[in-house]
Amino acid sequence: MSKTIVAENVTVGYELYRERQRLTALADITLSIDKGEFVVLVGPSGCGKTTFINAIAGLVKPWSGRILVDGRPVEGPGPDRAMVFQDYALMPWRTVEANVRLPFELQDHGLSKEEVERRVRHYIRLVDLEGFEKSYPYELSGGMKQRVGIARALVSEPDILLADEPFAAVDAMTREAMQAELEKLVAETHQTVVFITHSIDEAITLGDRVVVISYRPGRIKDIVEVDLPRPRFSYDVKALPEYGALREHVWGLVKDEAIRTARGAWT
Ligand SMILES: Nc1ncnc2c1ncn2[C@@H]1O[C@H](COP(=O)(O)OP(=O)(O)OP(=O)(O)O)[C@@H](O)[C@H]1O
Ligand SMILES: [Mg+2]
Repeated sequence: MSKTIVAENVTVGYELYRERQRLTALADITLSIDKGEFVVLVGPSGCGKTTFINAIAGLVKPWSGRILVDGRPVEGPGPDRAMVFQDYALMPWRTVEANVRLPFELQDHGLSKEEVERRVRHYIRLVDLEGFEKSYPYELSGGMKQRVGIARALVSEPDILLADEPFAAVDAMTREAMQAELEKLVAETHQTVVFITHSIDEAITLGDRVVVISYRPGRIKDIVEVDLPRPRFSYDVKALPEYGALREHVWGLVKDEAIRTARGAWT
C-alpha cells in the first residue's frame, strides 16, 4: 500500500523562548508526492529538511498551510507513517530487538504475536544485525545504531517511509548495499518515500525526483526529475552519460546555497 502526500503553502517554524523570537524554518512549501513515489530532499544544513518530514509525520504543526495524506489533513502521528530519525532516537534501556519491536507496542497493527516476531527477525537480518538482538544501544557503533533505527521504521511496513539521512553514519560499503536493499524493498512494497540526504549521488541513485531546498527559511528552489531506468542497482547507473549531467545540474543548484550556509557559519 502507499499513499499520496500533498503540502499546500506550508510554513513552519519554532518559538525561540530564550531569544523571544520566532524562527521561520520553512516558508510556503507546496509539493505533491504521488503514491509510490521516491522523493529526495537536498539542501544546506538548517534549511528545514527535518522540519518538513517532521510536519509530514505529525510531530510539528505548520504555522500556516496544511499537509494532506491521501486527502486527509495530518493531525498527528499515525501508523501509516514511519520515520528513520537523524539522531536514531533509540531507547537506551531496550535491546536491539525490543527497539525494533517498539512500533507494535505503541500502536496496534493488527498482527499476531508470531507475525510480529517474524517481522522483527526479518528486518534485523535485512540491516545485517543478526547476532546483536540482545545488545543495548551503548554496545553498538554509530552505523549499527542507525541500522536499528532503519529496521524499526521498516518493520511496520508503513505506507509512507520518512527517512532522515538514514545512511549518514553507515560506512560506505554497507551504505551502497543498503541503498540497493531499499530500492528493492520499495519496488516490492510500493511505499511512498521521502528521503533526506546530503549526498547528491545518493539522491540521484535513489530518487524519482530531487527537491532542492534553499537556505533558511527553506523554500523549494527547484525540482529535478531523475529519469534513469530502474532497478538502478542492477547495473552501473553511474556510468550513464545522463547520470553525469544530472549530477552536475543538482550540484549547481545546491552549491550556491551551501556556500551561503558556510559564509553564515564563518561570519
Ligand atoms: N526544536 C527546535 N527548536 C527551535 N529551532 C529549531 C528546532 N528544530 C529545528 N530548529 C531550527 O529550524 C531550522 C531548520 O532545522 P532543520 O533541523 O529542519 O534543518 P535541516 O535542513 O534538517 O538541517 P541538517 O541538514 O543540518 O539536518 C534551523 O535553523 C534550526 O535551528
Ligand atoms: Mg536534518
